[in-house]
Amino acid sequence: MTKKVIPLIDSRSFLRPSPPPALPSILETPTGLIADELGRPLHDLRISVTDRCNFRCVYCMPRAVFDKDYAFLPHTALLSFEEITRLASLFIAHGVHKIRLTGGEPLLRKHIETLIAMLSALKTPDGKELDLTLTTNGSLLAKKAQALKDAGLKRVTVSLDALDENIFQRMNDADFPVAEVLHGLEVAHQVGLGPIKVNMVVKRGVNDQEILPMARYFKNTPYILRFIEYMDVGASNGWKMDEVVPSAEVARLIQTELPMHPVAANYLGETAQRWRYADGVGEVGLISSVTQAFCHDCSRARLSTEGKLYTCLFASAGHDLRALLRSECSDPEISSVIGQLWRARDDRYSELRTQHTEGLAATRKKVEMSYIGG
Ligand code: GTP
Ligand code: 5AD
Ligand code: SF4
Ligand code: SF4
Repeated sequence: MTKKVIPLIDSRSFLRPSPPPALPSILETPTGLIADELGRPLHDLRISVTDRCNFRCVYCMPRAVFDKDYAFLPHTALLSFEEITRLASLFIAHGVHKIRLTGGEPLLRKHIETLIAMLSALKTPDGKELDLTLTTNGSLLAKKAQALKDAGLKRVTVSLDALDENIFQRMNDADFPVAEVLHGLEVAHQVGLGPIKVNMVVKRGVNDQEILPMARYFKNTPYILRFIEYMDVGASNGWKMDEVVPSAEVARLIQTELPMHPVAANYLGETAQRWRYADGVGEVGLISSVTQAFCHDCSRARLSTEGKLYTCLFASAGHDLRALLRSECSDPEISSVIGQLWRARDDRYSELRTQHTEGLAATRKKVEMSYIGG
């Protein structure tokens, strides 16, 4: 398919004195719902609230790159809570009903519960509450879970790559006890931030021996464990295909001890393939973004820490919505820009990478996941 040319959106064009701006497209349809070039609706907005993290996971923020000299964004570059909330309401009018706060580590953003309270007050056009969630490494979860719940957060997803202390440390290159993350999970569960999912990125030769111990441990808990294929996201993790453990291999390994069978997705476009244990107790998810790409029904937009809109996790460039927010643009004008960008979207990086494997991974310019939001 030939790439559609997206007209350059210059914020200054919205500052024209006259004639008045054309009626934004969102106002042309009663619901404001939009679909992209491949017919995919906009359902899910992932907002990175900080590019900083207190972990240095080897697949995400390797210490050799994200060292003490790394230039993280200054505070003035970040979207304010008011700016995030204003954009979120415009995305909601276009069909977004799930908002996930990510990072970096979102709980490092000061007063994050204030943002959550602002977002949780937003309603979908048909008056429903948002599915408002957050992905965290769990290090501050025990301390913050109650405040997050009180502010209106619905649920959390916690990253945990191993139960063994040494392997955990080899994955995140930080000195943080596994027990603290498990405690965070427990507190989050007690305060009602469920259903809670646990994300385990599997990297061959580093934590693959933890697949079975993790499956055994989480089987009889309220938490849904999800195994994630290590991806070539960003430009710093030195990704190689032979370090990916395909989900099919993970499933086979678990089946040797804990029989399970696939079950239907919860919703169209779910990243994980769900499997339920044959004895009826517990389920796991397999996120196969490398070996079985799920671009065909991807309805996720990403807002970077400094307010750029990315229509794909692997996009080379984003569109600067902060410039519009900080100019004189009205809501309908910004809404119209969002609509234009989504309608022109034809991203399907993971499917293309599957066709070209490492060639595409090596040549494409990509942004870091800590900046764009997982
Ligand atoms: P639920 O709302 O609980 O279903 O979560 P989710 O499936 O939206 O997932 P989550 O944010 O927990 O994502 C899990 C992992 O899947 C991420 O950390 C990424 O590794 C991967 N992932 C999520 N979205 C995408 C995507 O759009 N593209 C690719 N390639 N990977 C993704
Ligand atoms: N591959 C797969 N998932 C990744 N994440 C970050 N980097 C990668 C990568 N290279 C995801 C993990 C983690 C979340 C914060 O981001 O799921 O739990
Ligand atoms: Fe931090 Fe999460 Fe990235 Fe690990 S994966 S470095 S915890 S943002
Ligand atoms: Fe969506 Fe891009 Fe991920 Fe494909 S690679 S699922 S289009 S974010």
